[in-house]
Amino acid sequence: MATVRVGRYNYRGQFGDDPSTLIAELGDMLLSGRYILTAEVEAFEAEFAAALGVKHARGLNSGTDALIIALRACGIVAGDEVITQANTFHATVAAIRLCGARPVLVDADEASFSMDAGGLADALTPRTRAVIPVHLCGLPAPMDAILDWVRGADVTVIEDAAQAVGARIDGRQVGSFGAAACFSFHPSKNLAAAGDGGAIVTNDDDVDRQVRRLRELGQDGQNHHVTVGLNSKLDALQAAVLKFKLPRLPEWNAARRAVAAMYRERLAGLPLGFQRVGDREEHVYHLFQVRTERRDDLLRHLRGAGVDAVVRYPTPIHLQPAFADVGWRKGDFPVAERLAAELLCLPIRPDLTADEIDYVADSVRGFFRDR
Ligand SMILES: Cc1ncc(COP(=O)(O)O)c(C=O)c1O
Repeated sequence: MATVRVGRYNYRGQFGDDPSTLIAELGDMLLSGRYILTAEVEAFEAEFAAALGVKHARGLNSGTDALIIALRACGIVAGDEVITQANTFHATVAAIRLCGARPVLVDADEASFSMDAGGLADALTPRTRAVIPVHLCGLPAPMDAILDWVRGADVTVIEDAAQAVGARIDGRQVGSFGAAACFSFHPSKNLAAAGDGGAIVTNDDDVDRQVRRLRELGQDGQNHHVTVGLNSKLDALQAAVLKFKLPRLPEWNAARRAVAAMYRERLAGLPLGFQRVGDREEHVYHLFQVRTERRDDLLRHLRGAGVDAVVRYPTPIHLQPAFADVGWRKGDFPVAERLAAELLCLPIRPDLTADEIDYVADSVRGFFRDR
């Protein structure tokens, strides 16, 4: 089989056939000095909020800042405990630590790779103030179970929707379930800025007021700092890029689902596991993961064949040196440990062609045939 390079990103394709209007607009903005919290930023925020069906959206420097600011805006302070899952990206837990709070982990669910909501009760203590479910890979977390549990526990829900813009449960967008939700516009994401970017969305006017203060160094009116905040605002140039791309997001997410369906069909019958998706959940496949105990060999094989497969999160949170002082040990979250050892991402993008999908699937089949 001749080698075909199958990449994970096609940035040129995200700008459509004719990006000249956008490029002219960016040129104008650059030369006129329209950079910070301009009409372009407000326009993107309004369109993003409308697209998600929420009251407020605020653009920030990154998804990581969104998590820090959302926690602070929801009143999390030093000494509080915040629950999240052991199989997430570093930023979810780093944000908790950067607020001075203590992260408490629950294990992942073996089938969906989402937070195991059944573990929440054991994680609860009198100091628990918030829970951050992560809509991992683009699959909505089990929000029914989490919200049910939260009602009895008086705990705030902050969604980490960094990987899941446009995902839904029963037609309702992720980002609209919690007190606040955090998005990332990192270039790898389904809705990608031309650099770092992020947002917080909320239906709560008080949380929104706090977010606006916290992203401007705690300022409430010029030179009147009512709290200590961050300097974290989505750049106007990034807002223009995101506003240009946003209308195409539903089409891109649908195309990602179609690619995932083709992968599942072409890989059926192999000794591979896939993320389970419930009937009510609309996945947006930021990542398409396959699971095998021979993950590292399969990765080598695919990369040798020109397929840009990668491993995401090979070390679960509780085994990362950055959190060594928390006292977690190997074996504390066995499902997260197995997933970290066995999951592999196949390339997925909206414009992956049937030929590319066939090539990747044939390469995977070849691996299992030859050994
Ligand atoms: C689950 C999750 N949370 C948070 C983040 C942080 O987003 P950013 O890279 O924009 O800071 C990411 C992004 O990679 C992520 O995947």
